[in-house]
Amino acid sequence: MTVLVTGGAGFIGGNFVLDWLRQLDEPIVNIDKLTYAGNLQTLSVFEGDARHHFVCGDIGDRVLLDKLLSEHQPRAIVNFAAESHVDRSIHGPGEFIQTNVVGTFALLEATRAYWLGLSDQAKYAFRFLHVSTDEVYGTLTPDDPPFSEMNRYEPNSPYSASKAASDHLVRAWHHTYGLPVLTTNCSNNYGPYHFPEKLIPLVILHALAGKPLPIYGDGQQVRDWLYVKDHCSAIRRVLEAGAVGETYNVGGWNEKTNLEVVMAICGLLDELKPRQDGVSYAQQMTYVQDRPGHDRRYAIDASKIEQALGWKPAETFETGLRKTVIWYLENQSWVQGVTSGQYRQWLETHYHGK
Ligand code: NAD
Ligand code: DAU
Repeated sequence: MTVLVTGGAGFIGGNFVLDWLRQLDEPIVNIDKLTYAGNLQTLSVFEGDARHHFVCGDIGDRVLLDKLLSEHQPRAIVNFAAESHVDRSIHGPGEFIQTNVVGTFALLEATRAYWLGLSDQAKYAFRFLHVSTDEVYGTLTPDDPPFSEMNRYEPNSPYSASKAASDHLVRAWHHTYGLPVLTTNCSNNYGPYHFPEKLIPLVILHALAGKPLPIYGDGQQVRDWLYVKDHCSAIRRVLEAGAVGETYNVGGWNEKTNLEVVMAICGLLDELKPRQDGVSYAQQMTYVQDRPGHDRRYAIDASKIEQALGWKPAETFETGLRKTVIWYLENQSWVQGVTSGQYRQWLETHYHGK
């Protein structure tokens, strides 16, 4: 048995591959384009491990997909590959349409052709799990109930619109062609190996480097935070027991304003690695111009996945954030690889170079 993962050199996909290979013997074929967000250094502990087969490639490359599917005959596909950063989608939406929409379309078509050629038994057991986001539901007011699976799609950014489009394609491929799909819509993840363009790793690294900690607008926007290992366990659970055609919201029941998040990081750093001048890192907080179209509040109602599949997050925000800050303090070589740009050479030196 084999599982094919796309985008497995990114933040969540990388954590998923690491957790999978630490817990299970089943091999993973990992196709990742290695954009700026893909980092093979994350997976270096499994270099040379026959259970991890890495392929540098694009989910939009139909020829490559057909070849990989026919060679490896996976029993499931987990689709993490995407352009994922909202700010980048505002500056340059083209790549988001290309990967998140056109790429997902190519992956669905390749999967459909492969799935149709399987034996009845393999066809029945096969799963295509699409990893999506809570941002497809748009934004909430302070008094709205959290997003349930029944919420209307109201995406507001080029990123969330492209993810919403991909969710619709996945839904249609099930409804029209019978492809056995599962979709998860998750809230904001944080944890190890998070690329420092996103709020939590950016604030940790800027704080330690003595740089300003940028707070967009008034800092009162709310996100629901989930430790990445909890997201990975939710995906494994949905893959194992999710009902075909269903969508599952995944969240941490941890609504925080951005100011609360940044203050919590500063508090942990003050405790674990105090500034030499004894002043709190909070002094580095700087209010900057808001993100255009900035969604005010996301919150996830994760009761369906809890009731139907018995999944609950293991970490609270406090335990998960402490683990995350300690991880960044203890993994300076990964951090330096990313901040210096050296991680971009990893493929050449550690794979092609051999
Ligand atoms: P990421 O940006 O860290 O990683 C994305 C990975 O996909 C990278 O390794 C990149 O190289 C790869 N990739 C990009 N385009 C590709 C292509 N055309 N073909 C193959 N690989 C390609 O993203 P992430 O934060 O790990 O998010 C993973 C998935 O989870 C995304 O689909 C995202 O929408 C979704 N998601 C993320 C969060 C979050 O908080 N980070 C929350 C909910 C859902
Ligand atoms: O909700 C799930 C989504 O969470 C995922 O689908 C996305 O892939 C992921 O990037 C994330 O999107 P956000 O836009 O919520 O994450 P980001 O870390 O970019 O920002 C979190 C909040 O912090 C948001 O309200 C913007 C704010 N922010 C962000 C940065 C980078 C700041 O105030 N300052 C910053 O420097």
